[in-house]
Amino acid sequence: MKQNVLITGTSSGLGFESAILFAKNGYKVYASMRNLKKADALKEKIEHENLDIHILQLDVTDPQSIHTAVKTIIEEDKKIDVLVNNAGAGFAKTTEQATEQEIKWVTDVNYHGVVFCTQAVLPFMREQKSGQIITITSVGGLVGQPFNELYCGAKFAVEGFMEGLATYVSDAFNIKITCVEPGGIKTEFMNSAVSKTAVDGALATGEYLPIFQAYMAGIQKRAKEGESQTYQTGAEVAEVLLEVSKSENPPFRIRTSQWAEMFCNLKTSADPDGTKLLKQIKSSFL
Ligand SMILES: NC(=O)c1ccc[n+]([C@@H]2O[C@H](COP(=O)([O-])OP(=O)(O)OC[C@H]3O[C@@H](n4cnc5c(N)ncnc54)[C@H](OP(=O)(O)O)[C@@H]3O)[C@@H](O)[C@H]2O)c1
Repeated sequence: MKQNVLITGTSSGLGFESAILFAKNGYKVYASMRNLKKADALKEKIEHENLDIHILQLDVTDPQSIHTAVKTIIEEDKKIDVLVNNAGAGFAKTTEQATEQEIKWVTDVNYHGVVFCTQAVLPFMREQKSGQIITITSVGGLVGQPFNELYCGAKFAVEGFMEGLATYVSDAFNIKITCVEPGGIKTEFMNSAVSKTAVDGALATGEYLPIFQAYMAGIQKRAKEGESQTYQTGAEVAEVLLEVSKSENPPFRIRTSQWAEMFCNLKTSADPDGTKLLKQIKSSFL
C-alpha cells in the first residue's frame, strides 16, 4: 500500500506544489484547504496528470474540521503516514498597532493550527508505531525580524513545540519530526500579509514610520541586488520536503536554501540540524 500524506494549506504556494510533487513521487496525497472554492487549479492538475490526490476541507483554526479530515483518511486507509503542517499566514505590523484580534489570529493560524493538526494525528501514529510530522516554520522561527515580531513569535512557538515533542515521541513511537525553515518563497504569502494589514490599517505610523520606511527601503534594495538568490520558488522548497519525507533519518531542523542557512548562522552553526541539542535534552531529562 502506498504511503499517504496529509498536507494543510494546499490552495496555493508551497502546499499546492508539495501536493503535486508528493503525488508524482508515489504518495497518496490528501490535499487539504480551508476553502474548497479555491480547489480549481489543483483539480485541473489532478485531472490532466491523473494524480492520486484527494481534496479535503480543513481549516487549521477549526479542530472539528481537522478531526473530520483525519477520520476520513483513517476510514479510507486505516493509517496516516505523513503530516505536512504547511498552512500559515504572514503578518507585518508593529506590536503597538496590532489589534487583540489580529494578535490572536496570527497565533491561531501559525501556532495553534500546527498543535491541533499534530494532536489529531498523534494517536494513530503512536498506535502504528510509525509516522512523520514535517512542519514548515521559517527562518522567522529562529530569527526575529522587524515588524514581523508577532509572526516570528508564533513560528518560534512552533519550533519550541516541535523540539519538546521530538525529545520523546521519536524514540518511543518511531514518529519522525522535522521543522523546515525556508527564507523567502515567491508565493501568495507576501500579498496576503500585506493585504491583511492594509485592510486592517497601516503597518506602521507615527514614530515607527521612519523605521518602517528604512526597513522597506532595505528590502527593496536587497530585492534589486539579488532577489533570485534570496527567494525560492514553492516548487524548490517542495523538493526539500520530499527529500525529508524520503529520508531514513531526517534532520530535526533544516533550512531550504544557502541564503536561509547564512541568515540563521549565528543561531544554528553549533548544531545545524538540531541533533546535538535533542541528544542533550534527552540525556538531561529521560
Ligand atoms: N512565502 C514565504 O516567504 C515564506 C517564508 C517562510 C515560511 N513560509 C511558510 O510557508 C508556509 C506556506 O506558505 P506559502 O508561502 O505557500 O504562502 P501561501 O501561498 O499564502 O499559502 C498559505 C496557505 O495556507 C493556507 N491557510 C491560511 N490560513 C489557513 C487556515 N486557517 N486553515 C487552513 N489553511 C490556511 C492558505 O489558504 P487560503 O488560500 O485559504 O488563504 C494557503 O493555502 C506557511 O507556513 C508560511 O508561514 C513562507
